[in-house]
Amino acid sequence: MKNTDSTKVDTVRLQNMSRAFIGSASLFAAIDLELFTCVAEGDNTVGKFAVRAGITEVNSDRLMTMCAASGLLHWHSDHFENEEDVQRFLVKGEKSYAAAWLTFTRPAWDNWGKLTEKLANPEPATVIGSYETMTVEAARRYHEATASVGFGSGRRFAKQVDLSSATKMMDLGGGSGAYSIVAAQHYPGLKAVVFDLPPVVEITKEFISKHRVEEQVSTQAGDFTRDDFPADCDLAIMASNLPQYNSQIIGQVIGKAFDALLPGGEMHLIGEMLDDDRAGPLDAAIWGLYETMSNSTGMTHTRADCVSYFRQAGFTDIQVHEFIPGILVRVCGKK
Ligand SMILES: C[S@@+](CC[C@H](N)C(=O)[O-])C[C@H]1O[C@@H](n2cnc3c(N)ncnc32)[C@H](O)[C@@H]1O
Repeated sequence: MKNTDSTKVDTVRLQNMSRAFIGSASLFAAIDLELFTCVAEGDNTVGKFAVRAGITEVNSDRLMTMCAASGLLHWHSDHFENEEDVQRFLVKGEKSYAAAWLTFTRPAWDNWGKLTEKLANPEPATVIGSYETMTVEAARRYHEATASVGFGSGRRFAKQVDLSSATKMMDLGGGSGAYSIVAAQHYPGLKAVVFDLPPVVEITKEFISKHRVEEQVSTQAGDFTRDDFPADCDLAIMASNLPQYNSQIIGQVIGKAFDALLPGGEMHLIGEMLDDDRAGPLDAAIWGLYETMSNSTGMTHTRADCVSYFRQAGFTDIQVHEFIPGILVRVCGKK
């Protein structure tokens, strides 16, 4: 990039990037020590938080200063306050508490320190990555995390897309069933089948029963790269698993969904898609790179790639919509 203004190029941006992991570490420590919950409950000074967390005042000062400099807290006259998103998503006990999702990538922490070696791994990548070995317990932890944001996305989907004429939906890789459960609650005439790997659907059943939608939402255990899809559906959705697979597999899955849908049916693919100029968003690039950790064949797909999978499958009236700006894009098409 050419520097057009009169100021000289400096190292500030690169320095900040080289130490960005310290920002993640501080966020995780603040979550562990329930800093934001303490602030919300009035333990909002260095001294009060030190007592509540059982740490020294100097460490309390260091952590609170870092959180304020990172834009998680701000100083108000004589005490700290949570920023709006922190107050909403990181105060324990709130319904919107999303720490499980915000610490979801933390277990890979040590491996990210070995990214160079991981990228140079000569072993052939496997199709399905870490999912092959998933247990029911691991699926429960995984979907406790995805559900903490998935139900919000499900509500957004049910508001953004008119499903009033749909009768039966297949939710491919539906996980907690968030999209299906919310859609069922919005549309009492709609039935949904959450299709996911065998250990995962055991957890989906728990979410279905917790939300009392057993009459409308069922499950089907399977691997969408190999197994048949639910029959008689006029709606197919697939959300938040796009970078876990390469073009060939995503193309095949969308082709299979097209074949399984009833004539007149529609499909919505909601995923972490890269802009067509490949300049971002960062989140799409992160999830593509994340697949290096499990040595899967997964990769980042652009919006244009996804449109071409729909076209090749036979869908018409293909459209691209922002879903959660910077995070998720929705591509849809009709059969
Ligand atoms: C990040 S979760 C998203 C869950 C849900 N769609 C949502 O947005 O809340 C990805 C899901 O895709 C499922 N998945 C990945 N590969 C799959 C496969 N080959 N067959 C079926 N499900 C799969 C995973 O088990 C997981 O539940």
